[in-house]
Amino acid sequence: MNFSLRPASQGNDSAPDPGAPPSWTDCSITCKHRALHNGHSSAIVWLTGLSGAGKSTIAKELERTLFQNSIQTYVLDGDTLRQGLNANLGFSPDDRSENIRRVGEVARLMADAGLVVITAFISPYQADRNRAREIALEGGFEFIECFVDAPLEVCEQRDLKQLYKKARAGKIKDFTGIDAPYERPTDPELVIRTDKQTVAESVAQIVDLLLPRIRCLAD
Ligand code: ADX
Repeated sequence: MNFSLRPASQGNDSAPDPGAPPSWTDCSITCKHRALHNGHSSAIVWLTGLSGAGKSTIAKELERTLFQNSIQTYVLDGDTLRQGLNANLGFSPDDRSENIRRVGEVARLMADAGLVVITAFISPYQADRNRAREIALEGGFEFIECFVDAPLEVCEQRDLKQLYKKARAGKIKDFTGIDAPYERPTDPELVIRTDKQTVAESVAQIVDLLLPRIRCLAD
C-alpha cells in the first residue's frame, strides 16, 4: 500500500460544500493509514447465540489470541454495554433492536479506529444483525457473523447466571429461548457448536477465517 499523509483540506479536486455534513473520509488519518500502521485491516466478528451458548467465553479467548498475535482488538459484550451506554434499555423487541443498532454503530467506529472488534450479544433478530452487517459494509469493513450454537437444553443446563431457572419460574419475563424468540442465523459465515467442540477449537475456527481477511497487503 502506498499512503501519503496530507491534510484533508489539500488535494481535493473540488472545494468542500460548507453546508455538507462531515463525511467519514474527511479525516486526514484514514482507516487505511491505521491498517498500514497496525499491519492488519479492521473487521467485526459478530457473535450471536442464546444466553449461555458461550459467546463471552469465546470472545475473551479470541481477543487474547489476537492480542498475542499483535492484532489490535476489543470486545463489546452485552453484559458490559448494558451497564453503561445501553443502561436505559430492557429486553422488549424494540429495546433489543436499539441495543443492537447502537452496538453496530459503535463497532463501526471502533473498526474505523483500526480495531478487530468482537461483539458478544444475543442479537436475536436477523433483521438487526443484517443492519449491523450493512453498517459495517458501508464503512468498508469485513463482517463475520458467527453463530455460537448450542442447544437450548445445554445452555439451560449450564445456567451460569441462574437466569434460565428464574425465567422458568416466571421471575424473569421475555427471556430468550424461553418466552422470547431467537432467530437462528440464515446464512452466517461460521457456525460454532460449543456443545461439541472446545473453546480452543472454536477460536481456531474463527481465526482461520479471519486472518486471511485482515491481512494487510503492501503494494
Ligand atoms: S440482546 O438480546 O439485546 O442482544 P444482550 O446480549 O445485550 O441481549 O444481553 C443478554 C444478557 O442479558 C444475557 O446474557 C443475560 O445475562 C442478561 N439478560 C437479562 N434478562 C434477559 C432476558 N430477558 N433475555 C435475555 N437475556 C437477559
